[in-house]
Amino acid sequence: MNDPPAGAIYLDNAATSFPKPDCVYAAADIYMRAMGVAFGRGSHSGTSDAARLVAQCRQRLARILDAESGDRVAFTFNCTDGLNLLLRGVLRTGDRVVTSTLEHNSVLRPLQQLKSELNLDLVHVDFDARTGLVDVPAFTQELHRMQPRLAVLNHASNVTGVVQPIKKISAAAHDSGALLMLDAAQTVGHIPFSVRDLNVDMLASAGHKGLLGPLGTGIVYVREGLEGEVLPIRCGGTGTDSESLVQPSVMPTRFESGNLNMPGLAGLNAAAEWILQQSVDGLHAQISQLATQLSDALREISGVRLFGGAAVQNVGIVSFSMDGIDSQDVAAVLDQSFQIRCRAGLHCAPLVHKTLGTIPAGGTVRLSPGPFTVQADVEKAVEAVTQLAASL
Ligand SMILES: Cc1ncc(COP(=O)(O)O)c(C=O)c1O
Repeated sequence: MNDPPAGAIYLDNAATSFPKPDCVYAAADIYMRAMGVAFGRGSHSGTSDAARLVAQCRQRLARILDAESGDRVAFTFNCTDGLNLLLRGVLRTGDRVVTSTLEHNSVLRPLQQLKSELNLDLVHVDFDARTGLVDVPAFTQELHRMQPRLAVLNHASNVTGVVQPIKKISAAAHDSGALLMLDAAQTVGHIPFSVRDLNVDMLASAGHKGLLGPLGTGIVYVREGLEGEVLPIRCGGTGTDSESLVQPSVMPTRFESGNLNMPGLAGLNAAAEWILQQSVDGLHAQISQLATQLSDALREISGVRLFGGAAVQNVGIVSFSMDGIDSQDVAAVLDQSFQIRCRAGLHCAPLVHKTLGTIPAGGTVRLSPGPFTVQADVEKAVEAVTQLAASL
């Protein structure tokens, strides 16, 4: 098993998962040392090995997503890249969009930018600070009032970890004629779900969080038959149809211009195999149990306020603030005095903190266990917060 360096406890898996399974390091290393080729760009046997690896990776990710086939998965360089690709590809001048205050800046900022470029009509529906759940009646009402082209929703908040009721939202979105796009940065690989069962039109996610691949990897899923609606924002060489001056119309090459991050994808492919062996369900149960222990113990400490409510489903994120101390200072003490690595602040989701009322506290302190977190790590984190609370 992998150990974080020099005894540090890594509880920042919501930012990026660490450590990765050993097979991920090995696969990326082997790719760079022994394979090294550019996918789709050589006339030798090495390129067919690379093509096999990429196809295998798509198929494994399609199994994790329960997508129609591996071809529905296109590779990006992170979740933000995928969100930009989809938002810019789908939206047209004057479109109406319904989204929420749960969103990460990776959705908020592209939408704000597109609002000024395309004169979008944009609405952010709020969530319930007590439960962490988006206000479904208000979201539905906006969908019916605006008849938008697109609804965009965070699948699980990176601040609270609360998983949103996507089935209800997708039914309401489709009822109003809208497409539904998910920011699934915190759910793919974290919780078992099916894009077909949820009836999602598009999603973007990171390869380096719950999917346990290297940084610099991400994915988008586009439902079968929808790719024509998503204009390719990045055009160029795909290694296919080279005689054509026009960008391919088919998935996944439509969205994959330029060389792919092959060492990253080799790692992601190994990670996806590892996840399928463990099962997403099993990993979720293991991480949830640690997160529940953590939140139950922190709730007992005087001066600690927890956020996220008693969620029906949580991806394993524990967010809290402490009376009398800024969240950034809490993280600094955890790091410097206890070697506990976490993240504090707004977590790139400013509107969430407006609703939670956590701006004066400097946002929240976020502890996010991963597949290699052990019970002793949780106990040390609780002890550290207990000591800090006692010293205030
Ligand atoms: C909900 C959410 N969306 C988007 C992102 C952006 O992901 P990436 O860093 O892979 O671009 C994150 C990252 O923390 C996130 O939590």
